[in-house]
Amino acid sequence: MTTQARPNLAGGTAADTAGVRPAIRLRGTPGLPGDKSISHRALLLAALANGESLIQGAGDGADVRTTAQLISRLGVTVERGHSDGRRVDYRIVSPGIDGLHEADGVLDCGNSGTTTRLIAGILAGLPGYHVLDGDDSLRRRPLARIIEPLREMGAEVHARRSNSLLPMTVVGHTPLRAIDYSTAVPSAQVKSAILLAGLRAEGRTTVRESVATRDHTERMLQARGVTVIREAFGERGVAVSLEGGIPVQAIGEIVPADVSAAAFWLVAGAIHPDAELTLSAVGVNPTRRALIDLLRRMGARIEEQPRDARRASNSDTGEPLADFVVRSSALQAIDVSPDAVAQAIDEIPILCLAATQARGTTTIRGAGELRAKESDRIAGIAAGLNALGARVSVDGDDLLIAGPTALRGGVTKSHSDHRLAMTFAVAGLIATGATTISDPGCASISYPGFFAVLEGVRA
Ligand code: S3P
Repeated sequence: MTTQARPNLAGGTAADTAGVRPAIRLRGTPGLPGDKSISHRALLLAALANGESLIQGAGDGADVRTTAQLISRLGVTVERGHSDGRRVDYRIVSPGIDGLHEADGVLDCGNSGTTTRLIAGILAGLPGYHVLDGDDSLRRRPLARIIEPLREMGAEVHARRSNSLLPMTVVGHTPLRAIDYSTAVPSAQVKSAILLAGLRAEGRTTVRESVATRDHTERMLQARGVTVIREAFGERGVAVSLEGGIPVQAIGEIVPADVSAAAFWLVAGAIHPDAELTLSAVGVNPTRRALIDLLRRMGARIEEQPRDARRASNSDTGEPLADFVVRSSALQAIDVSPDAVAQAIDEIPILCLAATQARGTTTIRGAGELRAKESDRIAGIAAGLNALGARVSVDGDDLLIAGPTALRGGVTKSHSDHRLAMTFAVAGLIATGATTISDPGCASISYPGFFAVLEGVRA
């Protein structure tokens, strides 16, 4: 990788762009960060639980660090232990939810939508005046989806632009009102915000979603002594309920490797003509593995070996793990339904890259939610891949990708969106010429050290 540097405000230098050269061969075992979704929740639930929680192997990207920082502002002791740059151990000691207090200033959520939406659910039931803000990207992301249910539960929430955008204020109090709520868009963040507020409500809170989104909050609450009931809802949906007032217990958690980070290497291995990559101890929760199944439908040669979950001494969070080997593959186009999009939401950018190398036209339908992520990922992925020689078109909320196309390299814009930056970097490994990526440092939002790992798999 080559970098172009410019001075930054801190007096050091930040790379404006990164250059990725084509790779002759890919081999090795790319190191992965701890799962971002599970890491956020492990920290937040540790803040709610009275006592000591040990979290091993959390993701050490900027978003998870933001959550750690915010809980410390609410009165939680947060000690960082060993970090290898990608994963970190935490020791958290909390007085429990009743011992937390409002922060002495604005809670800066940085770039992290998960932090914002989940902590809002906690703050709704924490007496005090809470002010949340974030970076320019986060200030553009929709919040009405959590503000409406939290207000229904009795929290006083206000936000910019008719209660839809950061900055946001939450006046928390307890008890809240339990609600039975159907989410307008399937979103694990919205579901989790309501369930976390539901812990401080009187009675049973239920969230109904038309497609089951990631269920880490449910599993992790259950492991911490809060019974969570899951029932079928509609054809493919789920209704999730819990009773308010049950204390969250402090336990240990070993965080699996992040399947959303592994996705970059699964695609790299499948599309590169001379590749064999191994990924170990990856979390394969059924609500997170949609990309693996979509790639297999495309013909990707992915071997999967289930692995015994390592357990912290006093925990059983029940997240299944697997090792993977992926090899160069001949891919075929597929049709990706709106339900599959909801379940592979973070992996759609890298799936688009896979589709550029598949025979036929891949359609990804009903992907409008991608516009509400760290950037407009529909526009960004189409522009970036087309700049490299792909044929991606956008039709309303659908993406159409014609393949296979030889990628020639070129200049791409990450829009400071980590998943776009990493997708274009992987594209650079199979392009014929050099690929340039703007603001490559944003990869460390979810995957610190990503570019070093990328260089390490060249063989
Ligand atoms: C996440 C849920 C998803 C995902 C995000 C992490 C979570 O967002 O895009 O990266 O940890 O709950 P939505 O649930 O809003 O789609």
